[in-house]
Amino acid sequence: MTDSSFKREINRVAHELSLIYENLIAPTVNVELEARMTIPFIESFEGDERTITYFRCPDFPSLTIRKPENKTNIIETKELVEKRVIENVTFALSIEKTYTEFSFRNSLIPSITRTIRRKRIRNQPNIDITEENGIFTVEIEFNNKNYNEIFDIIKSYKVPFWPSIKPKETHSSEILGVVLSNRYFNYGWCISTKADGVHVLLYCYNKNVIAIDDSGRIFNFCESVSLQNIDESEDVYEAELMQNEILIFDCLKHNNKNVTEYNYLERLRFVELDKYCTNKIMRVKPIHEFINFEQFCKAINNAQQDDVFSDGFILTSLGPRTSDVFKSKEKPTVDLLYSKGFLFLSSEKISTRVSKNDNYPFIENCIYEFSLDLEPIKQRNDKIIPNYYIPPEVNPFMKIAKSIGVPCLRYHHNKIKYILLQKLPKKSTLLDIGSGKGGDLSKWNHLHFSKVYAVDPDLELRNVPKFVVPIKDYVQNIPPIQFDCVSILFVPWNKDFLNIIEKAKYFILATMDYPSNYECNCFKCEVEDDNFKLHIPNSQTALDIQEKTIDIKKLIKYLNEKGWKYEEINFPLTFASEDEKILSNMYSFYFFELKSAVLK
Ligand SMILES: C[S@@+](CC[C@H](N)C(=O)[O-])C[C@H]1O[C@@H](n2cnc3c(N)ncnc32)[C@H](O)[C@@H]1O
Repeated sequence: MTDSSFKREINRVAHELSLIYENLIAPTVNVELEARMTIPFIESFEGDERTITYFRCPDFPSLTIRKPENKTNIIETKELVEKRVIENVTFALSIEKTYTEFSFRNSLIPSITRTIRRKRIRNQPNIDITEENGIFTVEIEFNNKNYNEIFDIIKSYKVPFWPSIKPKETHSSEILGVVLSNRYFNYGWCISTKADGVHVLLYCYNKNVIAIDDSGRIFNFCESVSLQNIDESEDVYEAELMQNEILIFDCLKHNNKNVTEYNYLERLRFVELDKYCTNKIMRVKPIHEFINFEQFCKAINNAQQDDVFSDGFILTSLGPRTSDVFKSKEKPTVDLLYSKGFLFLSSEKISTRVSKNDNYPFIENCIYEFSLDLEPIKQRNDKIIPNYYIPPEVNPFMKIAKSIGVPCLRYHHNKIKYILLQKLPKKSTLLDIGSGKGGDLSKWNHLHFSKVYAVDPDLELRNVPKFVVPIKDYVQNIPPIQFDCVSILFVPWNKDFLNIIEKAKYFILATMDYPSNYECNCFKCEVEDDNFKLHIPNSQTALDIQEKTIDIKKLIKYLNEKGWKYEEINFPLTFASEDEKILSNMYSFYFFELKSAVLK
């Protein structure tokens, strides 16, 4: 975001929320509107210490409930009404109420206790700085009269470029979706090693360097520079602070100019290693470019040979700087806070998570690194906040490169399923035969079907939005219902489906109609007469499939005679291994439409 668009957004949101604030004001409640953001470490901070105990109330799960220290018979509740985030600034509009313990007649269960230090900096708007476990936050409480002062206050505390983008740890389908999106693909991408050091921004000024890590800790390499000089820094680099060296991997400001809009290779060329001095060797981290699948695999291989102490890989676009940066670790770990026997992620107030090792010498309120099965690995004294989430997949880049669980084919199939569903009329009613775990739920939602009957004897929907009617049964057993469209996506063919399809006007089909004998590391397909067996190790839905092969020509001929026309959706899988491409050729995708179809 440019400086001017940041200013515009802050002013817009502050104004918008101040109008809602005005409407919420009532005699019995206290409306609180605040903007807050984390700021770097403040040396010799003197704030008043207070301990707040939080509770949860099963009857009102959305309430934050706390008892302030020294006021044992008072209960304060807070309910969030609106929340907006612009870069690292969070705006929150909440309603607060105060009760005596007697008047709050709901059961309360104690959750966490927080000890903070707070200092009032000024009044109207009220500015407070809070410190909790070494993290500093500035909080500006404003209202409908002084909202226009917010931007200048935020600007006075904001450190340019900080906090930096954190690489995301996500599953292979999300990574493929971003990598292959039109927005990025023409720029190309690169792989580099994920150096196992401290992630910092280097502010370079007058031959000297000051570094700030993600938690706001400051590393001063020379006495003559201080935080005050940050705004004047000539160059800003992003780097990993290692034991003996600094590995630079991006340039955000060069010769006083913001260069984040430049392409990545251009930004790297701006890095001037000899211009500044620190007590460590400075070098640029090697990167390995790719534009297609073969180059991606080579890039991973080459990155493994790099002379960098590493615990995984990083994937970065070669285009302008973006927040879509991914990381992939062979042994993902999670940093959790230990409190009263339970292990907490950041911003969790309740946890039932416990360590696998009862005898580990945990210290109250310290952060520990755990394996994903919650075996403690080590204490993380360098971390001030625990992780926000548990990594969803182990080493997704390697899974893509080695076709483990055929991630590229799965991504491709999802894309085609979306195209098929998109061909069905807007706001129609869909009968989905064989919905399984509801993998298409977000597609139905996005495409605004007015109603979807999700039918499957093994139905396992994670959530059921209002427009979805779950039916846990074989489609042959369901009572008569009205629908416009039928979808049968990767479901073993059954001749009973024909009666159901004939009640609709549109029908989409994804099916393995051309299975062939093939065996490789990522799948095995065996054909015998008109049956096939498919085994895809590490996949969720195709571990052991045995099906009768659909006679697609016969089906098309039958439907044609009944007045249906069809279109085959056929576009090739390009970003994938040769094995995945072979498997891909065994599937077909069809859109059928009753020639006389007119939807009311
Ligand atoms: C491979 S899953 C497909 C899930 C989903 N359609 C997708 O594209 O990811 C096939 C599902 O079809 C279901 N199924 C098989 N025969 C069915 C029938 N006669 N009626 C409803 N569901 C059926 C199975 O229980 C299974 O969950």
